[in-house]
Amino acid sequence: MELAARLIQEGKLVAFPTETVYGLGANALDPMAVAKIFALKERPSFDPLIIHIADLDDLKKLTAEVDDRVYLLAEKFWPGSLTLVLPKSKLVPDIVTSGLPTVGIRMPANEIARELIRTSGRPIAAPSANKFGRISPTTANHVRKQLPDVDYILDGGKTTVGIESTIIELTEKGFRILRNGIITKEDIEEVLSFDDSEKTESIVAPGMVKSHYSPVKKMIVADKNIPVDIDKSKAGLLSFTGKYENGYRKIIRVSESNDLKEYAVNMFDAMHTFEDDSEIEIIVAEPVAETGIGKAIMDRLRKAEYNWRKGSSEI
Ligand code: TXA
Ligand code: MG
Repeated sequence: MELAARLIQEGKLVAFPTETVYGLGANALDPMAVAKIFALKERPSFDPLIIHIADLDDLKKLTAEVDDRVYLLAEKFWPGSLTLVLPKSKLVPDIVTSGLPTVGIRMPANEIARELIRTSGRPIAAPSANKFGRISPTTANHVRKQLPDVDYILDGGKTTVGIESTIIELTEKGFRILRNGIITKEDIEEVLSFDDSEKTESIVAPGMVKSHYSPVKKMIVADKNIPVDIDKSKAGLLSFTGKYENGYRKIIRVSESNDLKEYAVNMFDAMHTFEDDSEIEIIVAEPVAETGIGKAIMDRLRKAEYNWRKGSSEI
């Protein structure tokens, strides 16, 4: 921890666990350090980063104005998997926000993450610690596989949530969701109303691209008619209900008890496992209903299959 914190202070990159996925961290206030994140990830500069904090005092420093609703949300969901997009202060370098007037901020629940922030004494900008567009990392090994040149990795074991934080922005009417996660619309509605009005401005979250979380192997979500028309003897299945396992070369049961939270926890790890398995040519995922946490799961799966399904009529 001491070494990792010193590396952060020196402008180096440290991968660290959060409860959602591993982050690729740098001192958020050091533009040169942040630039290294974009370079190592091969991430386009128009895709802004989330800043991770350990104390509410940092929220005040990094944002321009914080209204009472922010504290209400912070009290209920922090530390935890909720990112708030708020007007940024002058302290936040433009490279972090890709020039946007807003900044995404989150206080992670993972103790190691918060200790790194506290010990280094720096707010930490961190995207997920994967190459741009690829499968997100939920173990230190996943990070090593994609980013072998990172300066340091803090290994905190497998992450406990497994998918990225819910991202929201605040509007006059309430909140809008920019990315679904384990904290659902319904959870947030307990403290704030959902803004369902039409969006006026066009681009709010530049990173919300159609293809993401993508394996280097073919991947598809098996809609309604599993079995789909593929050679199952070469396919690995992410199985949820256990109903469709017949004929697949390999099966990873992502939940033993039909629990969507377990699907979220195990999804990326299962995709990595099949990606690394030479006997598997195609990854198939069982879909779930798009309600509650199912929304966040289907969002990841749809983006992961996007490049592979696009234009392929044979599936
Ligand atoms: O759980 C998480 O959020 C993980 C862990 C490491 O904290 N981080 C993460 O970061 O998922 P990343 O960079 O992979 O995804 C962050 C997303 C991007 O799609 C980006 O476009 C969006 O957040 N974002 C960041 N700042 C934003 C802003 N000011 N306005 C709109 N979207 C923003
Ligand atoms: Mg990411």
